[in-house]
Amino acid sequence: MAVDKGFLWGGATASYQCEGAWDADGKVPSNWDWWLHERELPNADVASDHYHHVLEDIALAKEGGHTAYRFSLSWPRIIKDREGTVNEAGIAFYNKIIDACAEAGIEPFVTVFHWDLPMYWEELGGWTNTQTALAFEHYARVCYEAFGDRVRSWVTINEPKWFTSRGYLVGDYPPFHQNAQEYIQAGFNIMLASALGVKAFREGGFEGSIGIVHSYTPVYGIDDTIESQIAVRYADNFNNNWVLDTAVFGEFPIDLVTELSRTYDLSCMKPEYLRIIKANTVDFLGLNYYSSTDVKAWTEGETTLRFNTSGKGGERGKIMVKGWFEQVYNPHHKFTDWGMEIYPEGLYHGLKKAFDKYHVPLYISENGIGCYEDIVDEPVHDDYRISFLQDHIAAMLDAMDDGVDMRGYFVWSLFDLYSWISGMEKRYGLIGVADDEEHRRVPKDSFTWFKRVIETGGDCI
Ligand code: BG6
Repeated sequence: MAVDKGFLWGGATASYQCEGAWDADGKVPSNWDWWLHERELPNADVASDHYHHVLEDIALAKEGGHTAYRFSLSWPRIIKDREGTVNEAGIAFYNKIIDACAEAGIEPFVTVFHWDLPMYWEELGGWTNTQTALAFEHYARVCYEAFGDRVRSWVTINEPKWFTSRGYLVGDYPPFHQNAQEYIQAGFNIMLASALGVKAFREGGFEGSIGIVHSYTPVYGIDDTIESQIAVRYADNFNNNWVLDTAVFGEFPIDLVTELSRTYDLSCMKPEYLRIIKANTVDFLGLNYYSSTDVKAWTEGETTLRFNTSGKGGERGKIMVKGWFEQVYNPHHKFTDWGMEIYPEGLYHGLKKAFDKYHVPLYISENGIGCYEDIVDEPVHDDYRISFLQDHIAAMLDAMDDGVDMRGYFVWSLFDLYSWISGMEKRYGLIGVADDEEHRRVPKDSFTWFKRVIETGGDCI
């Protein structure tokens, strides 16, 4: 089945991961800038140098036939301090992107926050502090007022679960904490921030629609026993429901709240904030799909949250929550170098499940595969990426055939960029970025292949 003409096809990026120019033109440090400098870790000070290549990148997207570009705005590039002072140079940079998109016939699909928090908020406790959520409303309003005349598709927050769990629970993203109480507070505040972002959008009467993007992990039980099905519910609450139910229905899953209230302090969930969340639900969901997960009932052992961050293919991460569930790997599946299960069928089932449950339009806001690649040949021959994307787009088209209301598909990523803890080594781009001084752009075979997919509306899959 070919998709409608209005279906959005494109690539995605995020400000911290690609812009570089970390302290240029009045930009203040983000939490990622500060922490990675402090710990002397590989950072994105330069990254893909999108800040200086933006026109070339959008011209390439146009050459690839893209009809949309998903990118994020950098809060520390736009707002200079806690008083909310606007940095006009930051606004000018994003005007440049949006105007170039308009000229190229590419729809900007804009994420207001993709993890780069101004350090002046991180210093006060970051997302554990409700003040950060309240400040987000002002920042979001500045963005809508500056760009809302040309942007019609807005995302409040990218992946609330992923960066809060890694930052406050797993402890391998800034601020590198391992504290479940902080994770719960940060999780609540980020959902409040998203609702405040929706509220500012609606109050301003801006045209278009607003959604949230979630790192979607469809959950399967290893069998039909009651124990496995209970484990599925726990894992679904842990992985998906606290973001998706809250964003669409305006309520946190009641069984999750009850369970957490036995151990943790939930006083951050004040009635006035719960009312804001209830009243400001999203128009659509963006789902980032990389993998799904199989689970069984927890039997013994402490909570373990481990990922493969080495890029050594054979290594497996391990997710187990004491008393709740344990992740198991399906030995018949293929895995990426970073140990992610490759399972396109999970996308088909996940889309069906999400649409049945939430009944809002859906986008695949990210889908892709991270690999080691040498950006030397022109083009790079990435047949493995073509096969990954082909299988996932086919799964999406099957879900559409079965009635799921899909509005767009974005490859992660448009071009190679910085991967949060794997640096520039883990490449996802349709377009390579060479390691030379010029950050030369080198389209890969997948870039040409994706162009054909777009031209045929997915019919060539
Ligand atoms: C998503 C994020 O979680 O996955 C992106 O929105 C991220 O920012 C992508 O880069 C891939 O993850 P990673 O860790 O492999 O870069």
